[in-house]
Amino acid sequence: MSRRVLVTGAGGQLGRDVVDAFAGRVPVGGLTDDRSTGHLGARPACDVVGADHGQLDVADRDAVLGAVHALRPDAIVHAAAWTAVDACEGDPDRAFAVNALGTRHVAEAARLVGAHLVYVSTDYVFDGTSPRPYREWDEPRPVSVYGRSKLAGERELGPDATVVRTSWVCGAHGANMVKTVLRLAAGQGPLHFVDDQRGSPTFTADLAGVVARFALDRRPGTFHVTNQGVTSWFGFARAVVEDSGGDPDRVEAIRTVDLDPPRPAPRPANSVLDNAALRLSGHPLLPDWRDALRRLLAEVAVAGRAG
Ligand SMILES: NC(=O)c1ccc[n+]([C@@H]2O[C@H](COP(=O)([O-])OP(=O)(O)OC[C@H]3O[C@@H](n4cnc5c(N)ncnc54)[C@H](OP(=O)(O)O)[C@@H]3O)[C@@H](O)[C@H]2O)c1
Repeated sequence: MSRRVLVTGAGGQLGRDVVDAFAGRVPVGGLTDDRSTGHLGARPACDVVGADHGQLDVADRDAVLGAVHALRPDAIVHAAAWTAVDACEGDPDRAFAVNALGTRHVAEAARLVGAHLVYVSTDYVFDGTSPRPYREWDEPRPVSVYGRSKLAGERELGPDATVVRTSWVCGAHGANMVKTVLRLAAGQGPLHFVDDQRGSPTFTADLAGVVARFALDRRPGTFHVTNQGVTSWFGFARAVVEDSGGDPDRVEAIRTVDLDPPRPAPRPANSVLDNAALRLSGHPLLPDWRDALRRLLAEVAVAGRAG
């Protein structure tokens, strides 16, 4: 019998690709049935319901309990969040209503119907002062409202839930760094990006498959899941310009303190997540971010020609 899955935040960049992964519409990498192919394998597509913000507001407890009770899913991927990091800084109540309380509602509903819950969390739960990549067992210490609200969401989960912490998310759908750089590069003059924040760009086409796998396997615990390789926002912007056929020397490095105006929310200088739990379990890691970037740029180019 086909398993039923609910995805919250299904209008977002990750949510859309997670729905596609469950529906079997996209090839998915990461954790595998068949480690030689890197794909979800011969599992039948799931009966997936993706609920976007308009269809399900996770801050509304009655709505969440009602929707989950009606659907009775076997698993829930909770990808909904208020992700506007700087806006969160100015409206902590809204950030906590969505990211913390909203997660409480989804966790309660999952518990009531016995659904396995996968919660998507963030590198911003760490303060970024560590000299090495963060492991799952390191102490979180968020420096922004967004980070604190996402960590509060983690703490609403039962012991059997999965937490997937990821970083610098980009996908074909929605706004992200790649789209921003392509837009800026279409104009004239230099592009300025900070060189003192480091992380691992992570692409939803790769991440979605691992998230789907955790949901189907009901695998508990916290996992750091990012594309491999490390860069700064400056290095990332240069790669986007270069791999889309432009001149990477148009991108110039600045320091975070030189941003004018300064961003309201502080960011961790070191956002690098060691995918230790996956690695130590012997599971394959996601491909290098540069490889994933080239695939996304090819997809965006095809969509541009079609549209
Ligand atoms: N983006 C990143 O760099 C990044 C990094 C690390 C972790 N994450 C985490 O990864 C997950 C997916 O992020 P993403 O990049 O796909 O972000 P996204 O594109 O902003 O998607 C989040 C979705 O959640 C929806 N949403 C907001 N408030 C909601 C509410 N009250 N009820 C239901 N849905 C609501 C948004 O809808 P509207 O836009 O219509 O409000 C949006 O479609 C999030 O949990 C995020 O915290 C993201």
